[in-house]
Amino acid sequence: MKKQLLLLACLFPILTATSQNTTIKSSIENVEKKVDSIVSIMTLEEKVGQMVQYSGTWDLTGPASGNQNQYREEQLKKGLVGSMLNVLSVEATWEAQKLVMENSRIKIPLMFGYDVIHGYKTIFPVPLGETASWDLKAMEETARISALEAAADGVNWTFAPMIDISRDARWGRIMEGSGEDPFLTSRVAEAKIRGYQGEDLSNPATIAATAKHFAGYGFAEAGRDYNTVHVGENELHNTILPPFKAAAAAGVATFMNSFNDLDGTPATGSKMLQRDILKEDWDWDGFIVSDWGSIAEMINHGFAEDLTHAAEIAVKAGSDMDMEGGAYETGLVQLVNSGEVDEALIDDAVKRILRVKFKLGLFEDPYRYSNPQMAQQLNLKEHRAVARDVAKKSIVLLKNDKNLLPIASSVKNIAVIGPLADDKDTPIGNWRAQGEANSAVSILEGLKSAVGNNVKVTYAKGADLGMGERTFLKPLKINTTDKYGFKAAIDAAKKADLVILALGEDAFQSGEGRSQVEIGLAGVQQELMHEIYKVNKNVVLVLQNGRPLEISWAAENIPAIVVAWQLGTESGNAIADVLFGRYNPSAKLPVSFPRAVGQEPLYYNQKNTGRPSNPSDVTYSAYTDEEKTALYPFGYGLSYTTFEYGDLTLSSEEMNPQESLTVTVPVTNTGKKAGKEVVQLYLRDMVASTTRPVKELKGFELVELQPGETKQVSFTISNELLKFYNVNKEWAAEPGEFQVMIGGNSIDLKTESFRLN
Ligand code: BGC
Repeated sequence: MKKQLLLLACLFPILTATSQNTTIKSSIENVEKKVDSIVSIMTLEEKVGQMVQYSGTWDLTGPASGNQNQYREEQLKKGLVGSMLNVLSVEATWEAQKLVMENSRIKIPLMFGYDVIHGYKTIFPVPLGETASWDLKAMEETARISALEAAADGVNWTFAPMIDISRDARWGRIMEGSGEDPFLTSRVAEAKIRGYQGEDLSNPATIAATAKHFAGYGFAEAGRDYNTVHVGENELHNTILPPFKAAAAAGVATFMNSFNDLDGTPATGSKMLQRDILKEDWDWDGFIVSDWGSIAEMINHGFAEDLTHAAEIAVKAGSDMDMEGGAYETGLVQLVNSGEVDEALIDDAVKRILRVKFKLGLFEDPYRYSNPQMAQQLNLKEHRAVARDVAKKSIVLLKNDKNLLPIASSVKNIAVIGPLADDKDTPIGNWRAQGEANSAVSILEGLKSAVGNNVKVTYAKGADLGMGERTFLKPLKINTTDKYGFKAAIDAAKKADLVILALGEDAFQSGEGRSQVEIGLAGVQQELMHEIYKVNKNVVLVLQNGRPLEISWAAENIPAIVVAWQLGTESGNAIADVLFGRYNPSAKLPVSFPRAVGQEPLYYNQKNTGRPSNPSDVTYSAYTDEEKTALYPFGYGLSYTTFEYGDLTLSSEEMNPQESLTVTVPVTNTGKKAGKEVVQLYLRDMVASTTRPVKELKGFELVELQPGETKQVSFTISNELLKFYNVNKEWAAEPGEFQVMIGGNSIDLKTESFRLN
């Protein structure tokens, strides 16, 4: 009796709250207590319901039509759904929330998730492009704005940042991450999480973030999406996991697991990844959502017999929520009732989910994010200014022979040529959220509004690139034959002082499911470039791309090359800012550009091998038909000024593990314009218990210098920075010699060395 009274006393606030149809008050300190007490009054069915996520495929503001939608509406009313994705707008999220809050027994609010990858309405550069800015403050700011715009439309959870390391330009999703380096990606992950989540998740201007895809997805064999991943433990821990560990430490609210098989186990069914590493070793208390249907896909992997078996594997492995897979809904209740799955596992998953809902403030106000006031307060004009600023900071200048750039005032006749020159859609990218189709400023528009009346701008498309339907799900057809516009383009080029040639990739050439075996200029673009170059040598090639491209011919022949990625809403204005020198380019590649697709996967932080070089014969690790180095390496990018690095000074040539040392380098602006330089620190562990990369990025600083100015740039090297996952499966720094290298890219470096005692 005493026990029962005690239970009633615990539940009293919740029961009264629910019976009065009001909400459950939260405060950070007693979240755990509240979570426990809610779970204690839930039925098994209600608990499993929290682990189910539906995509809102029907119009929630009207009556559900069709059997499946009606069924789903009933499930919502019964409180048997934990969250929804793709439900957008204040009205729709309000209606869905109302179905739960006004009908279900326990009234646990829904979360609303969406892929807010590089902006919501205002679109910023694709993540690979934005990372090229190396400007963490700017990246945090664009995440903050994305969160604000998404929250104003009812969304309280983004499936971003995507922090899969990728070294393979064939993989279409390389555009969605931060490139090939674990250190840089880790810092970007932290900045993005700070931006989305802010200091306090319950602030309605912030949304929950997701670290995805856990783990190994970017290592899909041969760059083919969803393909098997073969990496050993050493690579997994030293290369793939660090950004995820950084995200967990930064307090990311949720993780998403990945589609791929990792060394024989689908990541969604991997206990090692989810329970052992993430939840136990890293002591992370958020929840893991599956990728779209990835629990059910374990049947296709040949790892589960049916949906129920898939549910058993996933829940035991630590996947907490089933995104549109139908497996938890089908199998979990039965699995617990038959004793195959311990209910404690269900309780743990539900507690993790409720914890995030409490942090979001949903128990205080389930409609907190469905607030029409918020949308009215948005200053989209201000957001566009930020979009322009970050876009110009993301543009990489690869080549500038003959100082064609910035465009001189003597240039009076510019021909703007190419299939992407007046493309207002490609800059919006493939993961465009609510960014409107054809809403970006095109290159032509940007240039036209930048030049005065005394410069003539002529436009000729030259040829089409993508043809027909351009949608997220369908393959893009590429024009490989039609050269109808070549003649007009050649004529325009002949008459011009300067040609701006806009080539690259359509937005729907990169992104999910858009792996390619060729990464050159698709269709008739290469031919168009040759024809234009024949008649005018003053060509500035402006590339818009979501992946590193194979551009060896251009690198050899075209005097100026600019990488403008897919830069978002303000693309054309930002490109004009750089081409006319209103912004001095400062971006650096976060990913290597290959000489040939056959080099992929290509990355700077490779191992030395037993046969690193011996150019006099063939028996070394290289190719017989091509150089093995990148065409443009990681960290590379030019400016309109020049920077010179002096010799490195180390505070000591030896270091004890409890100490740190400082390395300092003088960096001078030796040109005539003010500019920003990304000063990069690399380390190499010369001999270790496992083989180590020839260099690894371990620090960077964005430094602004006036002409002639010198700044001393210092980095602190701590024992922590020297650690790696070693032969004993521990993160440790091992005594011995280390090389320290500093420079403006991963190749041109000043070097010193020290010993760790
Ligand atoms: C992607 C995820 C995305 C999810 C929801 C999946 O296909 O892999 O990154 O968050 O869909 O749209």
